[in-house]
Amino acid sequence: MLIEGRVGIVTGAASGMGRAASSLFAREGAHVVCADVHEAGAAETAKGVGAQAISTRLDIADRRSCEAVARQTIDRFGRIDFLANFAGVWDGRNIAEIEDEHWDRILDVNLKGSFLICQAVAPAMIKQRYGRIVLIGSIAARVGGSMGGPHYAASKGGVNSLARAFARRLGQYQVTVNSINPGPVESAMTAGWSAQAKADFEKTIPLGRLGQPSDIASAALFLISDLASWITGETLDVNGGLYFG
Ligand SMILES: NC(=O)c1ccc[n+]([C@@H]2O[C@H](COP(=O)([O-])OP(=O)(O)OC[C@H]3O[C@@H](n4cnc5c(N)ncnc54)[C@H](O)[C@@H]3O)[C@@H](O)[C@H]2O)c1
Repeated sequence: MLIEGRVGIVTGAASGMGRAASSLFAREGAHVVCADVHEAGAAETAKGVGAQAISTRLDIADRRSCEAVARQTIDRFGRIDFLANFAGVWDGRNIAEIEDEHWDRILDVNLKGSFLICQAVAPAMIKQRYGRIVLIGSIAARVGGSMGGPHYAASKGGVNSLARAFARRLGQYQVTVNSINPGPVESAMTAGWSAQAKADFEKTIPLGRLGQPSDIASAALFLISDLASWITGETLDVNGGLYFG
């Protein structure tokens, strides 16, 4: 098992990638705190995982909520070895349609939320002289967003930068911080996309299919495992070849 005995927080655990990651990490030996603003969904994920998981409510855009989840994890397990931050929101509005409230919601959850949860877990990781943080950006950060709007693309570009900024500052404590940029993945987030849009993507993806949540969960497992001990500040593109640098 790749992460036996490790303890970590998975955000966005009620659905999609966060749910897939919670199960995978537990199968690989970790204790998982499944956190999501959709509390019942997080509880359902934890129930599916079994004895190695607990669930809690987290509004990642709220400082006190992030601090509470970090505290709960330490109270229950004594440490925080990893954070895998899948919580996120999507919006496809174009330039002229984006009002302040749309901008603020996307930036508050995706970018400010990523900062707040990293800030909340950092003291424990610094104290332990060990930690693994994986943030989730998007292919939209690389290509400007084709389905996602400019505010979504910008929020995810910010996430990539945030991972590098934390990596630079936490490396001395053996805390690695990386981000994953998924391509189009079948989940609740993309359920509203038209069949035509999905088919168009499939035609342009060299590996010929949309991603599954498990494709991203596997990449996150690699980054939080000791196989990736000397990787930090990196952005990993996981997209079937739709984009590579
Ligand atoms: N699905 C895709 O094609 C795709 C592509 C690139 C990037 N991403 C990113 O991957 C991540 C996971 O997406 P997914 O496809 O699993 O989507 P999803 O909608 O299935 O899951 C997102 C989860 O985040 C939770 N969430 C939303 N706001 C929250 C908040 N304020 N606090 C805590 N939790 C909150 C939701 O309740 C949900 O359970 C997101 O950050 C998304 O932006 C997704």
